[in-house]
Amino acid sequence: MKYGFIGCGNMGSALAPALSKSGNEILLSDHTESKALQLAEKLNCKASQNADIANECDIIFLAVKPQSLEKTVSEIKSIISDRKPVIVTMAAGFKLEKIESLAGCNLPVIRIMPNTPVAVGRGVVLYCYNNLVDESTLSDFIKDLSFAGAFEKLPESLMDIGCAVSGCGPAYMYMFVDAIANSAEKNGLDRAQAVKLAALTMSGAAEMVLQSDKTPEELKIAVCSPGGSTIEGVKVLESESFREITENAIDAAYNRNVELGK
Ligand SMILES: NC(=O)c1ccc[n+]([C@@H]2O[C@H](COP(=O)([O-])OP(=O)(O)OC[C@H]3O[C@@H](n4cnc5c(N)ncnc54)[C@H](OP(=O)(O)O)[C@@H]3O)[C@@H](O)[C@H]2O)c1
Repeated sequence: MKYGFIGCGNMGSALAPALSKSGNEILLSDHTESKALQLAEKLNCKASQNADIANECDIIFLAVKPQSLEKTVSEIKSIISDRKPVIVTMAAGFKLEKIESLAGCNLPVIRIMPNTPVAVGRGVVLYCYNNLVDESTLSDFIKDLSFAGAFEKLPESLMDIGCAVSGCGPAYMYMFVDAIANSAEKNGLDRAQAVKLAALTMSGAAEMVLQSDKTPEELKIAVCSPGGSTIEGVKVLESESFREITENAIDAAYNRNVELGK
C-alpha cells in the first residue's frame, strides 16, 4: 500500500512516524516545503507534491486544518475523482459526505479523529468510514497504523462527542498535570520532577481505570482513607465544582465540533 500525507503539521508529523513503522511507502507534502523535507529525511521516505500524491497513492491523508480542507481537495479534485483513492480526513466536524461533495464524486472515505499521543504510540484513533471502503483495505489501514495506539470504531453520529473526549482530551490532561506541578513547585518540589510525578500518576491511574473492574468512583474511594490527606483534596475538588467545570469543558468542545460540521 502506498500512503500519502498532504499536510505535515502537528497531526501529519505525529501520524506519519507511526505509519512509517509498518514499512509501507509514504509520500509527504506541505505548503511549507521544508516541513515535508525534514519529516521525509527523519522517516527515510519521500517529500512530494499534492498532485503526485493524488496520482500515485492508494490512501491519502488530508492532514490540514478544517479551514484549508476545501482548497486542498480542490487542488487534487480532478485527479482523485478519476482515480478514486481512499481519502482519510481528520478535520474536526467534517462529515464523510462533505469530502465526497468537495471531491464532486463518490469515493472511499475514512474519517479518523486521532489525538496527539499517537506521536508516542499511546494515542486514540476514532474512526468511521463510508460504504465504498472495503473491509480488507480498512483492516490493512488499521494494521498499518497500529503503532499510533488504540483504534475505536464509532458511528459517525458520535464522532463529535468522541472527538471532544479523546481528540481534545490531551489538552485538558496537560492542564491538570500543570496545575498539580504548580502546587508541588510552590511547596518545594523541583518543577521537572513535579511534572514527571504528576504525569506518571496520571498514566498509572489511567491504567488502573482500564485494567480494573472497578468504576473510577470506586477507585477514587479506595485512595481516600478516612481522616487522611487525599480526602481533603477531594473535598476541595468537589466543593469547587471540578466535575461540573470538566463537564462544561467537554460540552463546549462538543458544541464547537457540531458547529464546525454545519
Ligand atoms: N492538533 C491536534 O491535536 C488534532 C487532533 C485531532 C485532529 N486534528 C486535525 O488534524 C488536522 C491537521 O491539524 P494540525 O494541528 O496538524 O494542523 P497544522 O499543524 O496547521 O498542519 C497543517 C499543515 O498543512 C499545511 N497545508 C495546508 N493546506 C495545504 C495544502 N493545500 N497542501 C499542502 N499543505 C497544506 C499547512 O501549511 P501552512 O501552515 O503553510 O498553510 C500546515 O503545515 C486538522 O483537520 C485538525 O482538525 C488535530
